[in-house]
Amino acid sequence: VSAPRRNFASDNVAGVAPAILAALAAANEGAAPSYGDDAWTARLGTLASEVFEREVAIVPVATGTAANALSVAVLAPPHGAVYCCQDAHLVRDECGAPEFYSGAKVIGLPTPDGKLRPEVLAEAVEGSRAFGVHHVLPAAVSVAQATEWGTVYSLAELGALADRARGLGLACHVDGARFANALAHLGCTPAEATWRLGVDALSLGATKNGALAAEAVVLFDPARRQTLEYRRMRAGHLWSKHRFLAAQLIAYLSDGLWLRNAAHANAMAARLSVGLAALPGVRLVRPTEANEVFVHLPDPLHAALVAAGFQYHRWPAADASPVYRLLASFETAAGDVDALLATARAAAAR
Ligand SMILES: Cc1ncc(COP(=O)(O)O)c(C=O)c1O
Repeated sequence: VSAPRRNFASDNVAGVAPAILAALAAANEGAAPSYGDDAWTARLGTLASEVFEREVAIVPVATGTAANALSVAVLAPPHGAVYCCQDAHLVRDECGAPEFYSGAKVIGLPTPDGKLRPEVLAEAVEGSRAFGVHHVLPAAVSVAQATEWGTVYSLAELGALADRARGLGLACHVDGARFANALAHLGCTPAEATWRLGVDALSLGATKNGALAAEAVVLFDPARRQTLEYRRMRAGHLWSKHRFLAAQLIAYLSDGLWLRNAAHANAMAARLSVGLAALPGVRLVRPTEANEVFVHLPDPLHAALVAAGFQYHRWPAADASPVYRLLASFETAAGDVDALLATARAAAAR
């Protein structure tokens, strides 16, 4: 029995799912055409259209930042505005890549819980329009599903936002770095969570949920593919050994691996969340709906966890209170969670 994993800092601290490693090894046999002209890439296109129940364009990249930035570049012109939550990964964590790739301006809007509200979006768009060419042109909205605060838009919430966006003349992008976790929470199909609600483009995450390095932009209007492919090449994101990106995504989307991994990660986060919330002085700051736990920990309890070697991040909170983010991944075992909870309980009892 191996020692419990003590690293809850991210879902990126996990390794690679065995089925994806095996797919990479299989793709490593022999030679294959480069730059996406290979059989794996063709198969991925067919598979993605099956998974999403319509013809889609799926264009793999190696990072979620690239998927977001290229999505924005396809949906917004250089003089455009892309509206997001103020805590969005696009706003806070991508070093301006969406602006760099598109020329558009990314505008963060206030939200209490990581979920953008239709009326907040409408107010911002109408405010911009009032200034004509003196402001950027409202072009797109981008929201994370699951959100940066570990919450998940219900289908009604996301549908209402996408409807309002369309009414305002905006395209709709979903940052799905944790899209599988959101699906596992919602229990709906990929189609129900995206194009059926009016989503135009999805950054489909895989790395956090078992891939080595593979994400993809999924466009629900395949006519946009050509623009995306030129944008990707220009951005230096077309892999020459493209089959290795496609092979990861094929394994990920096959046999329900992505949803199984995500459901497991969500269940481990829920176990952690319930266990921590039962302790005196501990307060969940957001409901745990995907694989992220945001929690206020009293200083002595946090100190005991750190002393025992547990790792997780302090998270910026509006009121400067000690809020921490702990993540579970497809690799997190119940024993890992229970080891953390045992340390926390012992500290709380002192
Ligand atoms: C919400 C969200 N979007 C996108 C990403 C993609 O990031 P990366 O470029 O590190 O793959 C992340 C990673 O932390 C994320 O949390």
